[in-house]
Amino acid sequence: MDYHRNVHSRQIFDGIAAQYDWAPGLLSFFQYQRWRSYVVSRFQTGPDATVLDLCTGTAGVAIQIARTHRCRVVGVDLNLKMLNRAQHNLAEHEMGSRVPLVLGQAENLSFADDCFDDACVTFLLRYVDDPEATMAEIVRVLKPGGRLVSLEFGVPPNPVAKALWQFYTRGVLPVTGAFVSRGWRNVGGFLGPSISGLYQSYGEDDLRQMWQRLGMLDVQIKRLSLGGAVVVWGTKSGSTEAKDR
Ligand SMILES: C[S@@+](CC[C@H](N)C(=O)[O-])C[C@H]1O[C@@H](n2cnc3c(N)ncnc32)[C@H](O)[C@@H]1O
Repeated sequence: MDYHRNVHSRQIFDGIAAQYDWAPGLLSFFQYQRWRSYVVSRFQTGPDATVLDLCTGTAGVAIQIARTHRCRVVGVDLNLKMLNRAQHNLAEHEMGSRVPLVLGQAENLSFADDCFDDACVTFLLRYVDDPEATMAEIVRVLKPGGRLVSLEFGVPPNPVAKALWQFYTRGVLPVTGAFVSRGWRNVGGFLGPSISGLYQSYGEDDLRQMWQRLGMLDVQIKRLSLGGAVVVWGTKSGSTEAKDR
């Protein structure tokens, strides 16, 4: 069953999959790679662990987690074009056996309760009808004591930075996106209002409270690039044997 926003998300990512490996870096002034690296650095995963990488896209984060922590990563995404590119990237990095890919929805994961040692989710919340229910589904498949790390776009809190961010996302991005492709022009027009919309409902305090309601402990938040990106991480409660993290 498709949820309402799955349809929109498929349209968006079908239109940008072909350029996804390089365009986000360029359009974010190369901040995108920095954000991913920070996300990956939040894990203290061992080589025997299996990590869920939700919204794996073209597997950029999945490859970095598998390489940095020498673990197994399961990449999940609902977009076939993005996963096809992911398959190509994994083959290029000779990582296909360590990073299996699954076509699936974050809202309804086909995994048992408590089965992943850690989990990562990037840029999901703007694409789901019910962010809290979807995060609950991710927490469901995470083992007690496991770490969850999320990355979302944010809105800079400083008024000057915010004005520059507004100018860039509303004025510059739609134009520069059009130079890449029609799909990126559509993303350029959609991204700014979509980020502001999510941030109004899920500012940092809201995110922290939501994570705590879902049973996450030691919830921490880090703004990157003046607040243009927000990383949240925490540990699932209920561990009988506290993990050393
Ligand atoms: C911005 S991309 C992130 C890609 C990758 N993690 C990265 O950082 O490069 C977001 C991805 O989320 C996927 N996605 C959106 N909604 C989803 C959902 N409900 N379930 C699973 N994947 C979803 C899209 O297909 C897309 O590939």
